[in-house]
Amino acid sequence: MVNELSSITSEVQAVVRDARRVVVLTGAGMSAESGVPTFREVQTGLWERFSAEDLATPEAFDANPALVWTWYRWRQALIGQVSPNPGHMALAHWQHRLRSTGGELSIVTQNVDDLHERAESEVLGHLHGSIAVHRCIDCAEPAQLPAPQYDGFTAPPAPEEPPHCPLCTGFLRPGVVWFGEMLPMEAFESATAAIRQADCILVVGTSGMVQPAASLPLLGLERGTPLVEINPETTDLTELMDYSLRGPSGRLLPELLSTFSGVG
Ligand code: OAD
Repeated sequence: MVNELSSITSEVQAVVRDARRVVVLTGAGMSAESGVPTFREVQTGLWERFSAEDLATPEAFDANPALVWTWYRWRQALIGQVSPNPGHMALAHWQHRLRSTGGELSIVTQNVDDLHERAESEVLGHLHGSIAVHRCIDCAEPAQLPAPQYDGFTAPPAPEEPPHCPLCTGFLRPGVVWFGEMLPMEAFESATAAIRQADCILVVGTSGMVQPAASLPLLGLERGTPLVEINPETTDLTELMDYSLRGPSGRLLPELLSTFSGVG
């Protein structure tokens, strides 16, 4: 039965403090306080008629490659301009701390940004790929591209066509997972293996609406592993949780860490 909490109780503190193998599943909310809009936020500029989910599909790219390409390049530019927030920093501290005493904290993220890495965390798996890598949509040849030209805060004035693959002339696409596509096998398998060994699972900043990532906490549920959610809102996963901490991860993760480590 979920325990919805507006503050960190001694019971949650104890569960988290005593865990030696922690898995943290993160979603777009983790980066929200850095200034990266989540997928359910209303868009502006070129994309105001579209939801992010409408743009994150192979069909959308097929129908309007310039629109989808420019949207991803704009998000990439924005991510390049922002910094990890205190939530990212807290997870990095916690990972280093556990590792120094023979434990492990595994970060599995749905985010295509690199803010965990920039906070100096090691990420076990990027379930939805990475926005900064590119490949050909036809022959899958990887491609290196210079950083986008936009400043990241204002939308570009007009959509621009994706560049072409130097090998086969197909369009280049971002190295993210679109709806309906397979997740990278290695990332998913590493995530399931870590979850099967975990003694605590944190679910941070995800709506739990996108499968199969949203089903990962179920593996912990089957084993009776304590599940702790951090999210300002109730989500599709809340019912599964042992504890749901209501608030932003940029505040609650440092607070949680400071209750047992003095760091935060
Ligand atoms: P969503 O945009 O679906 O959900 C973001 C979640 O973050 C919501 O539950 C918010 O309540 C929560 N949130 C907002 N601000 C927060 C904060 N400061 N601290 C903590 N939580 C906060 O993002 P995801 O669940 O990550 O997939 O979405 C999963 C996938 O759906 C994405 O990876 C993407 C998307 O469409 C693909 O592109 C395939």
